[in-house]
Amino acid sequence: MSSNDMELFLLSLLLLVALLISLSLRYLVYKRKSNPSGGKLPPGKMGLPFVGESIQFLSLGRKGTPEKFMYDRMAKFSKEVFRTSLFGENTAVFCGPSGNKFLFSNENKLVTAWWPRSVEKIFPSSTQTSSKEEAKKMRKLLPQFLKPEALQRYIGIMDSIAQRHFKAGWDDRDEVTVFPLAKRYTFWLACRLFLSIEDPDHVAKFADPFNALASGIFSIPIDLPGTSFNKGIKASDEIRKELLAIIKQRKIDLAENRASPTQDILSHMLLYTDEDGHFMNERDIADKILGLLIGGHDTASAAITFVMKYLAELPDIYNQVLQEQMEIAKCKAPGERLNWDDMQKMRYSWNVASEVMRLAPPLQGAFREALMDFTFAGFCIPKGWKLYWAANSTHRNPEYFPEPEKFDPSRFDGTGPVPYTYVPFGGGPRMCPGKEYARLEILVFMHNVVKRFRWEKILSDEKIIVNPMPMPAKGFPVRLHAHK
Ligand code: HEM
Repeated sequence: MSSNDMELFLLSLLLLVALLISLSLRYLVYKRKSNPSGGKLPPGKMGLPFVGESIQFLSLGRKGTPEKFMYDRMAKFSKEVFRTSLFGENTAVFCGPSGNKFLFSNENKLVTAWWPRSVEKIFPSSTQTSSKEEAKKMRKLLPQFLKPEALQRYIGIMDSIAQRHFKAGWDDRDEVTVFPLAKRYTFWLACRLFLSIEDPDHVAKFADPFNALASGIFSIPIDLPGTSFNKGIKASDEIRKELLAIIKQRKIDLAENRASPTQDILSHMLLYTDEDGHFMNERDIADKILGLLIGGHDTASAAITFVMKYLAELPDIYNQVLQEQMEIAKCKAPGERLNWDDMQKMRYSWNVASEVMRLAPPLQGAFREALMDFTFAGFCIPKGWKLYWAANSTHRNPEYFPEPEKFDPSRFDGTGPVPYTYVPFGGGPRMCPGKEYARLEILVFMHNVVKRFRWEKILSDEKIIVNPMPMPAKGFPVRLHAHK
């Protein structure tokens, strides 16, 4: 039985039992827990007992249409906010630019970060070993490692790894499958830039548990052998062990001057002290690096795969990207690597990548928790409710993106989309700290791939699934045509 079948079987069992014992309790529990303040709740429906509407939410994603969950309910209940129940929690889904703006600008005032139990179990230290203060410290620290000035010196390394990656996995091949290769590229970069792991075999071995981890993150939290959730927890333990070993070794190497204090993010983290002179503890560092490796690899590889897909389908757009990249390539001496100035010249290519992330946002959205009772759009949101924003509530909305299905990079010319409508990286204080890093790794990839090849899809109607990142079901196999 595959892990998906096993999950469905267990879910059906769970549902049956839950239905029998809880229908009668439901009204009482709902009434007592959901709205102690008595204000008017957002319209919507809570779905089945315990599982709520999680199955619809997850299965629409697995069918490749996560936006349908949003748009059906926005049409039926409210364009601004509707209620549902996801992952066992009363949830208000905030929609449109006003919903995004509200959540992004009330961070730590009315709302705070929250992840489903499945995520907390897979990343236990985010809730157990690391205090709120520790987490705040980290949030201040990360942007320092990932800000544009700090990243400038990484561009040459990114380019050199991209070249090695193409040599090993693409050159001299007639056909390749893009998604696993894109993952290999982004993971190799992350291992090199965060941990100085360079050896491709070590990188490949380390990559395996990450695949299990990613699909465990947004799974139904049933911790039984064979479920995605169970595999995710095991994978996370395995990776953390490996990271702790790397951290211990690095401490020795730094003490014996065999490693440099600035060689990568790991060295920076180990040597970082707060105002009181305290170092970060090893487990926190392992967890933060784990978060970065996940954030820095699955999202960007999904974006790269969809860039490849749209460029295969839209030859005019491909030609314009090629022209922009060849102008840059022509000015380079043999062996000269890409640099910061080159990246600034890749305007059109970045508009293309931005349009790709509008139509296929790598992360669908994120959760928050209400810190107190408050009102939004005339509805009461009770303290403790979970809140969700989703990129698709605006990205495919014709009010903000006319002809939303049309691929049009010119939407990003000039001042670009209306504020809070284009949110692939979120917004406000929790906006993705890896945004600039992601921009660089995607552009370096685009430069290297169009310089070498044209490509065409092998499967004409490959399905898209979203679990939790969007991906073509067969990994997007393509036929390569190297430039003469
Ligand atoms: C195309 C690539 C990427 C996309 C679309 C993306 C998107 C996002 C989004 C939507 C969030 C959640 C914001 C929220 O909670 O509202 C996020 C958070 C985060 N991302 Fe990214 N990300 C990408 C790449 C990266 C990279 C390359 C890194 C690391 C180098 C990274 C590290 C993180 C971290 C650490 C957080 C948590 C921030 C916090 O909770 O304060 N991401 N990202």
